[in-house]
Amino acid sequence: MPESLQHPAALELPADHIAAGLVIVFEHWGAPAGFAVVVPRDDGAADIDGPFVEPDLWRGGIGRKLVEEAAQFAQALEARELFASANSRSEPFYAKCGFKHAGRVDTAHGPIAVMSRSLA
Ligand SMILES: CC(C)(COP(=O)(O)OP(=O)(O)OC[C@H]1O[C@@H](n2cnc3c(N)ncnc32)[C@H](O)[C@@H]1OP(=O)(O)O)[C@@H](O)C(=O)NCCC(=O)NCCS
Repeated sequence: MPESLQHPAALELPADHIAAGLVIVFEHWGAPAGFAVVVPRDDGAADIDGPFVEPDLWRGGIGRKLVEEAAQFAQALEARELFASANSRSEPFYAKCGFKHAGRVDTAHGPIAVMSRSLA
């Protein structure tokens, strides 16, 4: 079972993030198949929450599409950098999407990597 699905709380997006951000939804045959949220920060960067893709559709390119859309949204908001919190399973995914390691933070589920991608 995917790590984040073992911790359902990790899949919850705070309502204020959704309200303050830009939600990107990817549809597959008319049904929601994945989503990501871009949350602008005060320091001129932006965070990406997610992406989350329906497990049946993993490795089909939807996650990368969501990241590219998120990067475009963040650039349109004049963010210079996009930050992601990556668990051990999603680190290689973010690396494939052009993110580099930028530190670690402690969470209720243990330390996770912070990764960032320049939008300059
Ligand atoms: C992480 C996640 C969003 C990836 O979505 P996806 O649609 O499977 O990703 P893509 O198919 O677009 O993959 C893009 C690249 O990353 C690679 N990749 C994806 N998941 C990977 C994994 N777990 N390990 C290694 N590489 C991975 C793909 O092989 C692909 O590489 P390629 O371009 O060389 O072929 C999806 O697995 C998911 O929703 N996981 C649960 C939630 C989660 O962990 N979200 C991340 C934030 S914590």
